[in-house]
Amino acid sequence: MAKRILVTGGAGYIGSHTVVELMQQGYEVVVVDNLSNSNINVLDGIASIVGRRPDFVNADCCDYVAIDNVFRSYTDLCGVIHFAAAKAVGESVEKPLHYYRNNIHSLTTVLELMQEHKVNHIVFSSSCTVYGQPDADHLPVDETAPRKKALSPYGNTKQINEDIIIDQAHAYDKLHAIILRYFNPIGAHPSALIGELPNGIPNNLLPFVTQTAAGLRKELRVFGNDYNTPDGSCIRDYIYVVDLAKAHVKAIERMLSAKAEEQVEVFNLGTGRGLSVLEIIREFEKATGQKLPYTIVGRREGDIEQVWADPTKANTILGWKADTPIHDVLLSAWNWEKHLRNIP
Ligand code: NAD
Ligand code: WQD
Repeated sequence: MAKRILVTGGAGYIGSHTVVELMQQGYEVVVVDNLSNSNINVLDGIASIVGRRPDFVNADCCDYVAIDNVFRSYTDLCGVIHFAAAKAVGESVEKPLHYYRNNIHSLTTVLELMQEHKVNHIVFSSSCTVYGQPDADHLPVDETAPRKKALSPYGNTKQINEDIIIDQAHAYDKLHAIILRYFNPIGAHPSALIGELPNGIPNNLLPFVTQTAAGLRKELRVFGNDYNTPDGSCIRDYIYVVDLAKAHVKAIERMLSAKAEEQVEVFNLGTGRGLSVLEIIREFEKATGQKLPYTIVGRREGDIEQVWADPTKANTILGWKADTPIHDVLLSAWNWEKHLRNIP
């Protein structure tokens, strides 16, 4: 019988791509999402790609009764992938209580109900934000790098969430967790049927790039060219969302086949290669043939100069590698933008 996974936040950007990969690997999926940052139509996109629809429950993960009902309705759940969270760094500074309530209460609710219903495997979406700006001798950053004081309430919720999982695993010895620290997810499914749906003016680089190329924005503002990097712009580890999604399937498989060596394992998910903002612009123009108007402006407050992953642990232990060429990744982002805007 197919194994059934609960995917919270499964209508969102990374969640929807993960649902596709899970279903293509033969898993049954129940998506729980309150659609606070996603659109129900994403389920049509998933169904078109996979050929069948995941089950969907419109519910808030902070709602104990509603989530209890999900666990009661699906008694064969064998794991949870918990994406549901609010994720806008700037908004978290404006509305810290919303972030603490939503991101922390949703996790504690899910963990409580997992114990209650004896569902003992969880994959949790964490972030490279927990490392802050790693010290020079810790670049690329591996999992042993110290977590730095969070620069935003959002970042703090990820650190607190990681600690909650560790504490719960200590108290409840049947729980197994894999914490995945994502670097910068970008791109869209090659079908261009699902992708990122930013709300309003995008904060993240790639949606801003594709919207500028589509003519929705006049120009991209490059936040600073006076950093201590080869071309002066910031460096990040941009990881293809489909590669990232596949890591979740590996993580679930690892726990279900009892291969996990520790109750809580942490993996960095990145490519191992840093790219600067100016390199991304050049690669985007090369991949798509689109001219990208941009201007250099001052630094963005709170930006980290450079960070990229050492993904060796995920490569060797999870047996996973992010290896899609940046050309294909950027093209997928552009094809998705064209699909959204009906650009031929
Ligand atoms: P997203 O906003 O597209 O997806 C999150 C989904 O969760 C949305 O569909 C939203 O409606 C839902 N949601 C939020 N709060 C909920 C709640 N209380 N109950 C039910 N549903 C809820 O974001 P994403 O980019 O797909 O991110 C997924 C996860 O990965 C998040 O935990 C995020 O913090 C983490 N993450 C994202 C990035 C990134 O750059 N995108 C990087 C590192 C980590
Ligand atoms: C990337 C680079 C900007 C927009 C954020 C969160 C982090 C994680 C990933 C969730 C930076 C530059 C951007 C623009 C630009 N999310 N930039 N012009 O800041 O690395 O990380 O998303 O966990 O927590 O903080 O990503 O996409 O915003 O920026 O020059 O219009 O692009 O300065 O160097 P960031 P980003």
